[in-house]
Amino acid sequence: MHSLTDQQNTTSHKAHIIVLGNEKGGSGKSTTAMHVAIGLLRLGYLVGSIDLDARQGTFTRYMANRFEYIARHKLALPSPVHFPIEKSKAATVDDQERQDYEFFMMALEEMSKAVDFIVVDTPGSDTYLGQLSHSYADTIITPMNDSFIDLDVLARIDTGDRSIKGPSIYTKMVLEQREKKRARDGQDLEWIVMRNRLSSLDAKNKREVGELLEEISKEFSFRLAPGFGERVIFRELFLKGMTLLDMKEDPEHKMTMSSISARQEVRDLLRCIAPEKVKGYPRKVPKSS
Ligand SMILES: Nc1ncnc2c1ncn2[C@@H]1O[C@H](COP(=O)(O)OP(=O)(O)O)[C@@H](O)[C@H]1O
Ligand SMILES: [Mg+2]
Repeated sequence: MHSLTDQQNTTSHKAHIIVLGNEKGGSGKSTTAMHVAIGLLRLGYLVGSIDLDARQGTFTRYMANRFEYIARHKLALPSPVHFPIEKSKAATVDDQERQDYEFFMMALEEMSKAVDFIVVDTPGSDTYLGQLSHSYADTIITPMNDSFIDLDVLARIDTGDRSIKGPSIYTKMVLEQREKKRARDGQDLEWIVMRNRLSSLDAKNKREVGELLEEISKEFSFRLAPGFGERVIFRELFLKGMTLLDMKEDPEHKMTMSSISARQEVRDLLRCIAPEKVKGYPRKVPKSS
């Protein structure tokens, strides 16, 4: 396992920031954040993680469960340097935003010195910290439940002819923060939408959602990534702090066909984020713990 002090001096470049966002709770942000963080560690990168949804605290509890499980079974599994950020409780909104800004920027700067990637989980609601983090993202990943109803997190859809009427509030926010980043840093960000909880039962619905998503993606410039199927194993993994990428070393895990396919889905997502293609972030040999 890497500690922050181990990681100092190893890098001096700016870390690549991945933000998990979607204004709906329960779409799989925290689950995906954990899998992306562990996946990148397993590719040999140094990884930090930030939980901006510290009130809900799913990502932080997931991580705490991991540390507990690792300690209980004396496992040598990689874990990121994790940082939960609580929303400021200052008296005025101005003071809250100033404190939130300072805390977040400090976390980014400190981690950037030590890691290659920072994975940021955000709340399923519109908050100042959520918006701010989107403007610092190099990659935004939006997991969405694979249904027509959940498409409204991306676009307003005509219920009659299913045409796109305009961006959703979340999409508007992403486009605004994307502009902000361009103006501030002269750099674009990449937005990736992934379908989550794909069901094998309703092929027609799956196809129709897919077709509409293709259209929406062209309209608002995001890329579609292969998603995760609906699988009961995610609940159990959360409780143990494990991911699908840890299965081989997990003493309590019984390998099934379903978990092997699920692991492939995570690897496909990681390939889509394509860390090995990110310029200036050479692949490192994993350190033994
Ligand atoms: N592909 C999936 N199949 C089954 N359950 C899932 C899947 N993705 C997420 N879940 C479950 O759905 C719940 C919400 O996921 P979570 O990652 O906490 O969403 P969010 O962070 O967007 O609120 C969790 O109990 C999680 O285990
Ligand atoms: Mg969450």
